[in-house]
Amino acid sequence: MGSKPVSIHGQWSSRWAFTLAATGSAVGLGNIWKFPYITGENGGGAFVLVYLVCIALIGIPIMMAEVMLGRRGRQSPVNTMKALALEAGQSPYWKWLGGLGMVAGFLILSYYSVIAGWALAYVFRTAFGVFTLATPKGVDSIFAHFIAAPEGLLFWHTLFMVMTMIVVARGVQGGLEKLVKFLMPGLFIMLVVLVGYAMNSGDFIQGLHFLFYPDFSKITRNGVLIAMGHAFFTLSLGMGAIMVYGSYLPNHASIARTSVIIALADTLVALMAGMVIFPIVFANNLQPGSGPGLIFQTLPLAFGHMPGGAFFGTLFFILVTFAAWSSSISLIEPAVAWLVENRGVSRIHASVTMGILCWLFGFLTIFSFNLLANFTPLDMFEHFKGKTLFDLLDYLTSDIMLPLGGFLIAIFSAWIMKREASRDGLEMEEGLAYMSWRFLVRYITPIAVMIVFLRAIEVI
Ligand code: PFF
Repeated sequence: MGSKPVSIHGQWSSRWAFTLAATGSAVGLGNIWKFPYITGENGGGAFVLVYLVCIALIGIPIMMAEVMLGRRGRQSPVNTMKALALEAGQSPYWKWLGGLGMVAGFLILSYYSVIAGWALAYVFRTAFGVFTLATPKGVDSIFAHFIAAPEGLLFWHTLFMVMTMIVVARGVQGGLEKLVKFLMPGLFIMLVVLVGYAMNSGDFIQGLHFLFYPDFSKITRNGVLIAMGHAFFTLSLGMGAIMVYGSYLPNHASIARTSVIIALADTLVALMAGMVIFPIVFANNLQPGSGPGLIFQTLPLAFGHMPGGAFFGTLFFILVTFAAWSSSISLIEPAVAWLVENRGVSRIHASVTMGILCWLFGFLTIFSFNLLANFTPLDMFEHFKGKTLFDLLDYLTSDIMLPLGGFLIAIFSAWIMKREASRDGLEMEEGLAYMSWRFLVRYITPIAVMIVFLRAIEVI
């Protein structure tokens, strides 16, 4: 089949635009909100090491595979998988792999938008000086009151969802590409400034020690699963977001080089976020394992005590919101592209429909922090004890659906697709680079995902 020239949804204006958009998708709440708190909960350095190994050995090769599949199929993940399966003489039911991803993206966005709403709310709180000279207890109680009131959370969730759907409705170049071109450089500059701040006023050495000194006694089987799941989550892999972005990529752009750049940028941002947050945590005797509220309980404290803190704090939460924004659009893009292709509706119609459904689903997450905070329906399983609906959604998507999607993408691109087709799709010569990619995707990814799954459920 050779690649089609362009997708019906449009195309990025250049390889660089794709790199920014994919980096925009990768860099998000996963880096600034989730990475620090799960690192905190799972004991630090050893967890970070497992995560880095997963990025290098699983993340980069799967990213290459997803971009390649997308560019070769040039449609939404569901239809791309179907077309490529037929091309390889296999069952069209491979389209369900695209379907699994679409559902995962939808579920993730339903809670992602709620958390992005927190960041949005904190933009205004910091700007109005709510945290000026606040004590650690004060900051904690502001956060506790905030998440206890569903109406407030609903308001911010709604606002963020509307922001997301407006961009998606405007299309590939007019919406997605325009947004990321401005956001990404700003985010990076801001992080550099904050690392500088943490060096001067936090307990930087203890922060670094926590982040980089591996104490293997602290990591559990489940911790390894969480690290692997997070490698998928942070690189936006396993659900078709990068695949659909790849379907808008012009031909003759190096997939390998671009994937490495995206993964490096994403990892750098996560580590820098850790270098900002942990020094502040330790300098103020806070708990690194305090869960999803971590950045909302630590950073306002730092901003409340630094010169110009209201300004920097506001800017920081604006940038967290922006990072989330450039990711949220990619979470829903596979579903929107699919609706346009299969139902023949306009892009605007598709965006509104998906946006409303996702918004409604977000109520489950909102209530997990207040009305349903004690609703932990899977308590009968030791593994899920005490987990709210939000915790379960996060676990199901990041730790099960994304690695499973990645596993199947690996199987498809290295076992089902013909060798020439994948080489042609990646535009690589038969040589060491291609052979290493194929080896990793053919053996390492599937075996690693299986082992981690089986160990997490204590079969081996
Ligand atoms: N990579 C995003 C983050 O780290 O915040 C989250 C995400 C976006 C996950 C898109 C999956 C995805 F398809």
